[in-house]
Amino acid sequence: MNSWFSRTLLNWNRLENHRQMPWKGEKDPYRIWLSEIILQQTRVEQGRAYYERFISSFSTVSQLASAPQQEVFKLWEGLGYYSRCRNMTKAAQAIVEQFNGRFPDSYKDVLSLPGVGPYTAAAICSFAYNQPFAVVDGNVYRILARIFEITIPVDSDAGKKHFNTLATDLLDKENSAEYNQAIMDFGATVCKPKNPLCNQCPFHDRCNAYKHNTVYSYPVKTKKLLRRTRYFYYFFLEKDDEIMVRERVTKDIWQHLYEPVLVEAEKELSEKEINPLLRKIGIPADSVSGLRYSVKHSQQLTHQQICGIFTHVSLKNKVDALSGYQWVNKSEFEKLPFPRYILSYLKEKK
Ligand code: ADE
Repeated sequence: MNSWFSRTLLNWNRLENHRQMPWKGEKDPYRIWLSEIILQQTRVEQGRAYYERFISSFSTVSQLASAPQQEVFKLWEGLGYYSRCRNMTKAAQAIVEQFNGRFPDSYKDVLSLPGVGPYTAAAICSFAYNQPFAVVDGNVYRILARIFEITIPVDSDAGKKHFNTLATDLLDKENSAEYNQAIMDFGATVCKPKNPLCNQCPFHDRCNAYKHNTVYSYPVKTKKLLRRTRYFYYFFLEKDDEIMVRERVTKDIWQHLYEPVLVEAEKELSEKEINPLLRKIGIPADSVSGLRYSVKHSQQLTHQQICGIFTHVSLKNKVDALSGYQWVNKSEFEKLPFPRYILSYLKEKK
């Protein structure tokens, strides 16, 4: 078991997660079930009001079971996916008929209720009874796929099995309720699908996708290509008022846009490995008067993630333009079209 994983997650939850939700810490399985059904295809912000309305209209599962379907639908209005609502009534009736109105407490029985799948059953059993069932949903796929760089597609049978096994291994079995709520909150607020907060992430040092700049490539789906990461090392070769650039003409991304001297690498390089690239393209060490490394900038394309690393190189003497490149002065340079991330880098640098 990777105890560092649950330790890090629970620490984050105790110290940094301040997400308030009306069903948080709830122990009543009926209320938990209600909130989980509402949240299946609905955002927390939207679901909150519906949850409150359902609880005040039907405070017990028996009340919900005996309510006319029409009335339940009316309360559900606007949430969409109406089969959820129909299943909810059916499940409430099943609880009354098969379990004497008491919400079942075994995973198998909970899973037998209409509209309850493995994710919802794990949520109910862990939140209400602290039973050791790990929730596995889109959030969990994304978090685990990124941290462990799992390339097995999540929408394949092998992937489902793999993620389920890993999620169960990682679960803190003594604190299932807290752990499961924490992993969901973590996925919703830090390890988000878009704009994840990697800088503030407590898994920062452990996350393989972050290390390899492939955060956006995960989770892998069969229907989607794995987004390739390319490392573009750019050298702004500068002498007085001039910069060496070229137009991109090959059959690749960004045709007809301009760029400074580019060396593409297979992987991310350390600073020590960047200098020799200059020699490789024919710029001798003794012609360089100054070097300045800059931050990385990334640009995400449909099938690739481009990671640009920009280095400014002041030259002592003007060298011949490298093959395919030309010298331009700064005022010409500013009028040239560049890929978006080069522009944002230049703007930021100003
Ligand atoms: N989405 C589904 N269930 C959730 C929960 N318990 N907390 C936050 N988001 C959720």
